[in-house]
Parts: sequence; structure tokens; C-alpha cells
Amino acid sequence: MDFVEPRKDSNPADVPDDASVALDQLGSWKKTADCSSLGAQNIGDEVVLMGWVQRRRDHGGLIFVDLRDREGLTQVVFDPQISPDAHEHAGVLRSEFVMAVKGKVRARPEGMANPKLPTGEIEVAVTELRVLNSSKTPPFHIEDDVEASENIRLKYRYLDLRRPKLFKNLLLRHKVAQLSRGYLNDLGFIEVETPVLTRSTPEGARDYLVPSRVNSGKFYALPQSPQLFKQLLMVSGFERYYQIVKCFRDEDLRADRQPEFTQIDLEMSFISEQDVYDLIEGWIIRVFGELAGIPLSPGFPRMTYADAMDRYGSDKPDTRFELPLADVTDIVAQSEFRVFRQAVERGGIVKALRVPDGKDMSRKDLDDLIEFVKIFGAQGMAWIKIQPDGWQSPITKFLQESVQKGLAQRLGIRTGDVIFFVADQRKVVNDALGNLRVRLGQQLGMIDPDRYNFLWVTDFPLVEWDHDEKRYTAVHHPFTAPLQADMDVLEEQPQKVRSRAYDLVLNGTEIGGGSIRIHQRETQRRVFNMLGISDEEAQEKFGFLLEALQYGAPPHGGVAFGLDRLVMLLSKSPSIRDVIAFPKTQKATCLMTSAPSDADVNQLLELCIKVEGDRRK
Ligand code: AMO
Ligand code: AMP
Repeated sequence: MDFVEPRKDSNPADVPDDASVALDQLGSWKKTADCSSLGAQNIGDEVVLMGWVQRRRDHGGLIFVDLRDREGLTQVVFDPQISPDAHEHAGVLRSEFVMAVKGKVRARPEGMANPKLPTGEIEVAVTELRVLNSSKTPPFHIEDDVEASENIRLKYRYLDLRRPKLFKNLLLRHKVAQLSRGYLNDLGFIEVETPVLTRSTPEGARDYLVPSRVNSGKFYALPQSPQLFKQLLMVSGFERYYQIVKCFRDEDLRADRQPEFTQIDLEMSFISEQDVYDLIEGWIIRVFGELAGIPLSPGFPRMTYADAMDRYGSDKPDTRFELPLADVTDIVAQSEFRVFRQAVERGGIVKALRVPDGKDMSRKDLDDLIEFVKIFGAQGMAWIKIQPDGWQSPITKFLQESVQKGLAQRLGIRTGDVIFFVADQRKVVNDALGNLRVRLGQQLGMIDPDRYNFLWVTDFPLVEWDHDEKRYTAVHHPFTAPLQADMDVLEEQPQKVRSRAYDLVLNGTEIGGGSIRIHQRETQRRVFNMLGISDEEAQEKFGFLLEALQYGAPPHGGVAFGLDRLVMLLSKSPSIRDVIAFPKTQKATCLMTSAPSDADVNQLLELCIKVEGDRRK
């Protein structure tokens, strides 16, 4: 063994980054145990452990190292009485050095056990050490309660992933994927891969485009989902398809959104909604039961889209707490308060949110909440505090007795309440108060973090009016089947048509969504036309689908789940980035690889692309 004279300093942080350490070879050594798995049952065993130096402490004659591998820590001891060689060699060890030790498992001395560590009862007395690699001082200490900013951690993602928490998240993700595959395989689903270089599949976001070199001036789109391919597989007679698949969407990012994310995507022929509910509930019950020990029962609650919007102002309500919204348009339309009256006259609505025991809210609290609802487009928000000596509010004077009575009755007002009102177009009111409801639920501690409330949201409208584009757009995607009962008014009153779409919501997050599809060409043509997609455009963009529907397409439907979101909720992670190995920032960049990056001029020339560098400045 050749190694440099060990340094005597014992503070690992003092190591210069260029520490030159003579290194050992692994040779024929094999790792025989995991650092997480050793316990009293192993006392007396000879083991070989390999991993990274979490911490080194010199205690007089003894050197202690916490050795870390992917799942845990074991304390190893270098005792000059046992092996003077290994003890001397251990002097070079610093944080994140890679090492292998041979040694014997022994009980820690009386009073020295560490009950916080699963391996805390034992230690390994080292007989031989091999230093397999040195390490620069890492930019942050590898531990769960890390202090470094997320940007630094994303730049050194490979180090961040050494943290047990992130490893556990990715292990859980792996288990969810494996369990899902097993579940679907057993039910006769087969996994089929679909193209990544393809045409646009509209799911409501912007496409990522890929220029084609061989077909200059033409572009592929990365799939927002495999939607059309899975439908075509049904036309092909596959009957049950699934895929764990990357999807790409160029959209504004949030805590639960990434530009590339993974779907557990599936499709079935000859089924109705109930078949999807049964299949998915069976799967979710297994995922939560087996991987998180959370018992759930089948028959998840359901709520129509209309009810969800009315009561919670959202199509993905968090039902762990109530705080319902109430429509008071009819009552306040009679009031003398200009803001309410005008909103109603302009075709808008007024909704109220009653917060029980809100009396302690200060003026500043109320002002903060008013600012908050403005994020969602509200012009303002009126409030009333229900005090023992009467209603306190800048607007009470405009609410005559009959209006006050009506409100008291509809809202079940009690002393101590605070009532909030937003008057505007329906969408703004629901957005503002729906989000306020969630914020207040959190702020007032009304949410039990250990509850898992699943909810099927059903009967979505088929389309909604896009004010900017002045046309109807699909609420899900344009391949969603309309409810047969509403087909008569498809052309005359599209906004009244309900669809056969469903979403599964967990604690206020949409984790999956799907629908029964259109499987007949004529229906698909009518829906395209209603969406303002002409026959020519439909032919140009989706001709292959329209064509396929004419060759005996079976009735079919399916659903897709966000694997990342599911694992995020299952692991109680605050961000979707915590469950993705190499995620992107809010600005869709990768801080580790610096993607996206400039392209080589020659590459651009080949692609016939000219970059107007200054356009964005
Ligand atoms: P949808 O667009 O609802 O449906 O997507 C399905 C699920 O994918 C997840 N998801 C995302 N996760 C992370 N980041 C994103 N940017 C993101 N966008 C969506 C959500 C969502 O519920 N083809 C249809 C499914 C179908 O009709 O079968 C589809 O893609 O959890
Ligand atoms: P103003 O007439 O703008 O001074 O507003 C009087 C009160 O009505 C204030 O408390 C505002 O916050 C509130 N208000 C203003 N716009 C709205 C609105 N769109 N909905 C509900 N309340 C509003």
C-alpha cells in the first residue's frame, strides 16, 4: 500500500481542494453489507463496507468515521490496537472521500449507542482500509437539513442526490413505477413506446419544436402526451395499452409543473367511465397502501365540475376542509353598493366566503388578502366583520336591511365571522375566492396534513370560451367524447355540452385526467368544426386520426397520471423538483448542464436556422 504521510489536522473542512492523496485500488474486494442494514444481529460478522466519509472525528487514539452509502450510515472505528496501518492511513480521510473497509461488527460500548441511527447499536472495528478516491470539499454538507440554496444544489445535483432524502424520493418513485407496471401487466395491459419526434398533440400548452435537418424548414413537435398514438393503438386492436412516458410542455412553471415530466399513461377499448374508476382506484389503493402504509377504500367520492366550481371555485378542490363559497348574486343585485350592482349588470356574479372565527384578523391581514386576490384578476374584495355590536365594514352602509337579512340567512352568519365578497365575471370570482379559500385553509390551520382526500371530478364542460382568441377551446383536448345526451345542442350551445372527461384530484392537486374518446369520424368532425377547426385544417393536422376512425375504431377511453406529482404528494415533498433526478428550474433551465445553450453555427446552418440574437432584448 503506498500512501502519503497523513495530515494530522482533524477538521475535514481544512482540506485544500487539490488534496493529492495516494489512492488504493478496489482490487478483488466486494461490498458485503449496506451501511443501513447492520444491527445487533451482525455482531461478530466480518464485513466489507464501501461508501463516502460523512464525518471523521479524531478522539485521542481512535478515529471514528461515519461511513455513508445510499441508504444509511455506519460508524467505523480505526483503533491503533487493532490495525496500526489502517489507523494511520485513516488520517487522510476527509468529507466525501470514497473508502472501503474490512472489519468486524461489534457492539458499541455501554452508553455509546446512538438511538437516532438505525445502526446506532453497533460499529465496525476496521482491520483494513482502502481509500478509493479523494474529494474536493463539497459546496455544501451532504445532509438532509441542508442549508445551501436550491440553485447551488441544482448545479451540483449529483451531490444533492447523495442526500438520503432525495435518494429516498427517487427510490419511492422507482417503486411506484414498478408497482404500476406490475399492476397493469397483471391486468393484461401491454407497454408500447410511442414516438418522441412527432407532430403536435394539443393538450393546451405550447409545443417544444425540433428542427429537421433532412427536411429543412420543417419541425417535429415533442409530444405533450401520447394521446393520439394511444388512440391509434386502440384502432389497431391492442385493447389495453400503457406507457410510463416523458411528455413535454412549454408552459409557465410552478411548484407542481415541469417542462418535461412523466405520465403513467393508459388506454382501454370497450369500456365506460366506471371501468376507469375501478381500475385506477385499485391501483391507487395499492400504491398508497403498499408504498406509504396509507389505507384507502374504493369508491372515491365524486363531484361534478359544476358543483366543484360552485362550492369551491375550483375544478380541483382540496376537500380536506370546508370553507365553501356561496353565490349571493341574487341577494346583492338589489343592494345600493355600486360595485356589486355593476358587476351583476355586466353579466358577472358575486360570491361570498364566510370565515368562522375570523374576528382576530387585523386591518393589515385583510389588506394582504385583498392584494392576494388581485393576483387572480379581482379588482378588489369587500369584507364584513360580524362583531357582537353589529356588522363592521366600509360597505355596510350600502347594504339595506333586506340584503343583510338575505346574506345572514344564506351564509349562516354568526358573531365572530369575517365575510369576503368578490364581484366580477364568473371565472375571476371563482379563481379569486377559490384561491383565497385554500390560502385561508392553510393559514388558519384547517388542513390535516395526514389526510389523503381523493376526488373524481366529472362532467366537465366540453369547451370553454376563449376571450382572447374569440373562439371555443377544448377544456381537456379535442378528442374527448361529448355526453350523448348533450349532442343535440353541440352546434347551437357548445358551452352547455358536457363531456365524458374526469380528473382525479388529491388534496387539491390534479394528479390524473382522462376521458372516453370520440371513436366515430362524424362526431370528431362536428367537434372540430365547433372548435373553429375547419375541415381542411383538421385534415392537415389530424388527417391520420380522422382516417383511422373510419377503419373500425372501437369505443375507447383512458387516463394519464402525473408520476412526478403523485410521488411528490406521496413523499410530502414541497416541490416537484424533489422527486425528479435532474429537474429544471422555474425558468426551464438545467443549472448543472447549462441547458438550453447556444447552438453551433454550423449546426444552425445545416438546419437553415438563423438566430436573431437581439430579439428578446
Ligand atoms: P393531462 O393534460 O391532464 O392529460 O395530463 C395528465 C396528468 O399529467 C400531469 N401533468 C404534469 N405534471 C408535471 N408537469 C406538468 N407540466 C404537467 N402537465 C400535466 C398531471 C395531469 O393530471 N392525454 C391526456 C390524458 C388522457 O386524456 O388520457 C393528458 O395528457 O398530473
Ligand atoms: P371602491 O369603490 O373601489 O373604493 O371599493 C369599495 C370597496 O369595495 C372596497 O372595500 C373594495 O375592496 C371593494 N371592491 C372593489 N372592487 C370589488 C370587487 N370587484 N368585488 C368585491 N369588492 C370590491
